[in-house]
Amino acid sequence: MNRKKVSIMGAGKVGSTTAQLLSYMDICDVVLWNRTADYAKGVALDIKESSPIQGFDSGISGTGSFSDIKGSDVVVLTAGAPRKEGMSREDLLNVNAEVVKSICTQIKKYAPDSKLIVLTNPLDSMVYLAKRITGFPKERIVGMAGILDSARFRSFIAEELRVSVRSIHAMVLGGHGDFMVPLPRHANVNGVPVESLVEGSVLKKIIERTRAGGGEIIKLEKESSAFYAPASSLATMVEAIVKDKREVLPCAAYLNGEYGIKGIFIGVPVILGSNGVERIIELELTKYEKKQLDQSAQKVKELANEVENVLLKK
Ligand code: 2OP
Repeated sequence: MNRKKVSIMGAGKVGSTTAQLLSYMDICDVVLWNRTADYAKGVALDIKESSPIQGFDSGISGTGSFSDIKGSDVVVLTAGAPRKEGMSREDLLNVNAEVVKSICTQIKKYAPDSKLIVLTNPLDSMVYLAKRITGFPKERIVGMAGILDSARFRSFIAEELRVSVRSIHAMVLGGHGDFMVPLPRHANVNGVPVESLVEGSVLKKIIERTRAGGGEIIKLEKESSAFYAPASSLATMVEAIVKDKREVLPCAAYLNGEYGIKGIFIGVPVILGSNGVERIIELELTKYEKKQLDQSAQKVKELANEVENVLLKK
């Protein structure tokens, strides 16, 4: 069988939903790894049993052994504690750093040539930690956040204008946190600037809602955080890589001077293809937009420093 192999680390809500979506898309074989092997096996079996109904032929299996991820083209890291009500993504740093460290050590060992997509929060620092542990080149490691934040932005704009979400193009850059940078100036409805269609005060509210998008869901669900839209975002990234689509997507990429930022992962538009991050696209930003991105980068840098402290402790 010549299908691409994608391993998903963590069979929580995001990991399981991503496995389901990828199976339904029928674009790769999926290995679902979980600390509790039987849980992953159960989820995989359940998805597999839907194959005659959904009509997919790609394989799906569950495992608790790291050696089963050998030969993966793409590894998706979702493991870690989710955010609960009242918790910031940053509060999670210490808890999830240990998880990311131990799993990335195994990814480096068993899937050293894979492209690694990180979702675990706080995203910008966990993807940084993943790079420090795996030592993967910057092209092969990327974080998921911008697609999710942009999807929230796009869906709120579509709702306001009562038009198809497919007609809405909009991007959110920066860190995945309260300092994310939605770009209303670049938002458009098939070429028509959103700023000319939506009143300033309404657009401002949409931007605020986008920034607080993850928190809005936690407030409603209490014990859970979002997983459908995060899983859709992950599946889109996996598809771009396994099908070499060279899709332009906002992702957390390692910057080496682009946008005047160096040495951290932050959300920017990239071309995602079979080699991972094929290119970082530099948008022309206004002074105000650049200031916002710099503020966001400053926050992300502080978290990266905390990661360095975690690494020093061991
Ligand atoms: C979100 O934005 C939990 O960070 C995740 O929904």
